[in-house]
Amino acid sequence: MSAVGAAPALVAGGDLTTGRADFIERAQTRGDLFVEQPYDLYSKANQETWRRLYRALAGKWEQHAHPRFLDGVARLGLDPDRIPRLEDVNRFLEPLSGFRARAVSGYVPAYLFFDCLRRREFPTTITVRDGNRLDYLPEPDIFHDLAGHVPMHTDPAFADVLVRFGDAARAAALRGRDGDCRSVESALRALARFFWFTIEFGLMRRPAGDGLCAYGSGLLSSAGEIGHALESPGVQRVPFQLEWVVNQGFEIDSLQPLLFVVDSFRHLEREVRRLERWLGEGRLDNVAPGEPAVSREDLRSFLDAGLQ
Ligand SMILES: [Fe+2]
Repeated sequence: MSAVGAAPALVAGGDLTTGRADFIERAQTRGDLFVEQPYDLYSKANQETWRRLYRALAGKWEQHAHPRFLDGVARLGLDPDRIPRLEDVNRFLEPLSGFRARAVSGYVPAYLFFDCLRRREFPTTITVRDGNRLDYLPEPDIFHDLAGHVPMHTDPAFADVLVRFGDAARAAALRGRDGDCRSVESALRALARFFWFTIEFGLMRRPAGDGLCAYGSGLLSSAGEIGHALESPGVQRVPFQLEWVVNQGFEIDSLQPLLFVVDSFRHLEREVRRLERWLGEGRLDNVAPGEPAVSREDLRSFLDAGLQ
């Protein structure tokens, strides 16, 4: 997790604001990736940020979110006025799809992240964005993770898609068995692009066949992004094509100009299985260079997994 600007002094009673949470810094210093959610540390300002975000998004969800997402929000009993406790969310979530949200202290190396999905665990950020920067941020926060991602995890078909990403990551890691870093880097880039254009920024045809809706968490956790994605004439919304997606770069800090549309969750799962197959066959060992940049830490996580 990267800091956002300079770190001001901590307020009395705690603070779990992204980039300046003492609790997170201490966990990272100790090397603790998985943590508890220290609920009492949320400040009044943190709770107010959640309330404002929820108010800004609730109407947009009614208008633009996939019906399964709206269903998920209701089933999880998300409180518009209070940051959820992960244990409460999991009490509703686990019986529905076997998934659970698991608190993390910051960035999860890429292979570990996908492997968590395979085990039906969703690494969940517990900090809250700064109230002065309410709209989309490149780094996740609890609103992005819990309100943007987790409602979709209540749907068993969608949950199965996430598990398939873990299988695809395994196939990508195995490209490095012979010490071929370049193939793994390419495979990881393909996987990251696929995840970005589906789980983070995916659009889907409405089940009734009339128009499009959002199922991607980057859209569902940003009031600016969701309206832009579905209403702006400047956005290209094209049918999902695997060859295109894995070669398409993206920028994380501007509104998305190009989005891919799948027909259904079944369609999405078929495409993840194709991705896994193509990774295993070496067909994605040379995807187009460009974004996202692959960090040494992420590459190392895949190379280590491939050797096990
Ligand atoms: Fe996300």
